[in-house]
Amino acid sequence: MLSQLPNCITRPSWLQLISWIADPLKFQDYYRQKYGDIFTMRLSGLGAFVIISDPQAIQEIFNQDPKQFDVGSGNTLAIPLLGQNSLLLMDGDRHRRERKLLMPAFHGERLQTYAKQICKITEHIASEWQVGHHFVARTAMQKISLEVILQVVFGLSGGKRYQQLQPLLAAWTNMTDSPSRSSMLFLRFLQQDWGAWTPWGQMKQRQRHIHDLLQAEIEERRTNGDAGQADVLSLIMAARDENGQAMTDEELRDELLTILFAGHETTATILAWAFYQIHQQTDVREKLLHELDSLGENPNPMEIAHLSYLTAVCQETLRLYPVLPSIFARITKSPMKIAGYRFDAETVLLPSIYLVHSREDLYPEPHQFRPERFLERQYSPSEYFPFGGGNRRCLGYALAQLEIKLVLATVVSKYQLALANDKPVKLERRGFTLAPKGGIQLVMTGKRLSEVQA
Ligand code: HEM
Repeated sequence: MLSQLPNCITRPSWLQLISWIADPLKFQDYYRQKYGDIFTMRLSGLGAFVIISDPQAIQEIFNQDPKQFDVGSGNTLAIPLLGQNSLLLMDGDRHRRERKLLMPAFHGERLQTYAKQICKITEHIASEWQVGHHFVARTAMQKISLEVILQVVFGLSGGKRYQQLQPLLAAWTNMTDSPSRSSMLFLRFLQQDWGAWTPWGQMKQRQRHIHDLLQAEIEERRTNGDAGQADVLSLIMAARDENGQAMTDEELRDELLTILFAGHETTATILAWAFYQIHQQTDVREKLLHELDSLGENPNPMEIAHLSYLTAVCQETLRLYPVLPSIFARITKSPMKIAGYRFDAETVLLPSIYLVHSREDLYPEPHQFRPERFLERQYSPSEYFPFGGGNRRCLGYALAQLEIKLVLATVVSKYQLALANDKPVKLERRGFTLAPKGGIQLVMTGKRLSEVQA
């Protein structure tokens, strides 16, 4: 006999889908109040999802043998964007092999090289800001994070291919910058390629152009044998698996797009929220500046990354503003008991980042921005997981945190910024992610002399 799913929401599934696309946080808040830590939503055309916000249950999921779950097969919505060879879509041995090939490029000593590039890129882009000039924080941060991907990952910082790719990638990722434009990712009937005058057709056209440019870059490097550069593409082109096999061109191309897609909007959004909070709460800004100034002039980027208050600001921003409302779905491969509930094979479990990060028992006054909470106590991997967990933990978690800290530190220590208005900022869907509506308006009020120079 099949087990019943717990606490099923009774509203029609099409209505649940619309609510989930429009405002997944309000949706989850409402049903947590009604049902508690575990409930089941049913999304029209996508199936049933058991939403979980009990850290104990999530720990049980993270601690299971990864072989007990499929994850890639739950991410099929990403196929039209990323292609069949994306890490996001893989499971089992293929996923394990691909992660092993990609992982070294994002960790260890590599990060020190990237750190310097991130600071340089930030300084260059911030130097274009004029005193008295208004700008949208999220757009400015996306410019930085796109440049980081282009230089650090693709190894491109100039030349014809860079000039073509830069605006194309920006336009491609901006195609889902509102809830209505995002719906084409969830509603398959909108995915019709009827040429460049339909949104989907335009998206596919740009994607084909990006594919061609990436393919040309890969081929050129193979021909010139210059895979010895310090960027991620060179490293993953040179990587070999246990059988001495390298990644194919299709794999390389799809992984580059995956890294761009998973890495640049997410980081830009978190940075925009961090600037919002830092300039809303003067005490946060002052504490941060005091800590940054304590390093003296021209500190080493890795020293900056180890600062404790800066780290807490970064952690608290990631807690309060989930870029993804949940981690990837874990699909049971055989019957399994979690949190006392029995689930059949093929049950889709969805640990909710948002619901756990807003638990009153873990984070008193959860909707307040208070970095100190991360200095006062440690949270376990199932109490705090902005980057997910287990064998699917975000591939770029170390790079993302480094980038967030270095961009914040570089800008805050050199420029005086202020919020352009005091209107409250709401969250809005942006593709699969959530971002600040309107992007947060900032104004540059002056350049800053550090306490050391003053
Ligand atoms: C603030 C920035 C970021 C956040 C909040 C974030 C968050 C996440 C989350 C929640 C997951 C799912 C993990 C799970 O289901 O357990 C994920 C996966 C992933 N992320 Fe990130 N991410 C960020 C930045 C990045 C960056 C910079 C990169 C690449 C350089 C990246 C690449 C990936 C990839 C490739 C996966 C799939 C991993 C797999 O399936 O094995 N992310 N990320």
